[in-house]
Amino acid sequence: MSMAATAPLPEHVVTDPDHIVVRGLHKTYPGAQQRVLDDVDLVVPRGTFVSLIGPSGCGKSTLLRAVAGLEPYDGGELSIFGASPQEACGYKAVGLVPQTPALLPWLTVARNVELPGRVNRGAERRRAARYGMGGPARTEGGVSTAELLDLVGLADKADAHPGHLSGGMQQRVAIARAFGLEPDVLLMDEPFSALDEFTREAMRLHLLSLWQRMQTTVLFVTHSVREAVTLSDQVVVMSARPGRIHEVIDVDLPRPRDRDVLADAHLHEVEDRVRDSLQDAWEHGAKPADLVPA
Ligand SMILES: Nc1ncnc2c1ncn2[C@@H]1O[C@H](COP(=O)(O)OP(=O)(O)OP(=O)(O)O)[C@@H](O)[C@H]1O
Ligand SMILES: [Mg+2]
Repeated sequence: MSMAATAPLPEHVVTDPDHIVVRGLHKTYPGAQQRVLDDVDLVVPRGTFVSLIGPSGCGKSTLLRAVAGLEPYDGGELSIFGASPQEACGYKAVGLVPQTPALLPWLTVARNVELPGRVNRGAERRRAARYGMGGPARTEGGVSTAELLDLVGLADKADAHPGHLSGGMQQRVAIARAFGLEPDVLLMDEPFSALDEFTREAMRLHLLSLWQRMQTTVLFVTHSVREAVTLSDQVVVMSARPGRIHEVIDVDLPRPRDRDVLADAHLHEVEDRVRDSLQDAWEHGAKPADLVPA
């Protein structure tokens, strides 16, 4: 178990070039009776894979959108390798796979995947170098659209339009699009939720190999304990109403997470630890019924 999420942070950490730092973040949606995020502290070291897990409505998507610079907050601090979320986004350093894939219906699958790379990329990424972000493509020669579509099993859909794809296929287009950006930070909000179990497993393996190849920092939201543990260096357990970090659990399993590692009894021990923590978070958080006036 790591105390990184709850221990007070020294001042210099906020401008730390090697961490995403969230400190004392709080937010209340207009008209809500309670904070959706309540003094959230989180430190994510550069290059690590961190999962967020917690009950529905605990604020995972809100937190992810805040890191992406898309969600205003009422107080606290948030920095990405020393830059503000808006700066990092401006530098094309952050890729977001939202909970619902936002594809442009009038563009083909291939054009949707290529889109973020086409918008003002070069100059912004060069400017990002002062934060140790951006710079030249991290994969040799970049990753081609064809390669990305192949990775997500959609090579034959390049010319299709999103409206003709299943929900799971649309999710995979959104994943390919985020990878194509080769972001320094990849934020993924339940990216595999609409996929069948076999496709989901294949996508996990692709994600891990791309993560290693691109040395990206990943913040990954999931409801699957198995998924969180097999992918992550740390699992962040949140509790609800108000949304808080309940516990940060280190996943001390070796990499690569091959068959032997995934069959090891220790994996199940870590999974049990995460499940116990989720149960504890559920018992400590206020239940939806508690908020309903009598
Ligand atoms: N734009 C919004 N305006 C008002 N309330 C919102 C808004 N977005 C989310 N909420 C509320 O904030 C709370 C947290 O929502 P959020 O989507 O961050 O949860 P989550 O942890 O991602 O849930 P899930 O696991 O179901 O995706 C919920 O109670 C939700 O109703
Ligand atoms: Mg969500």
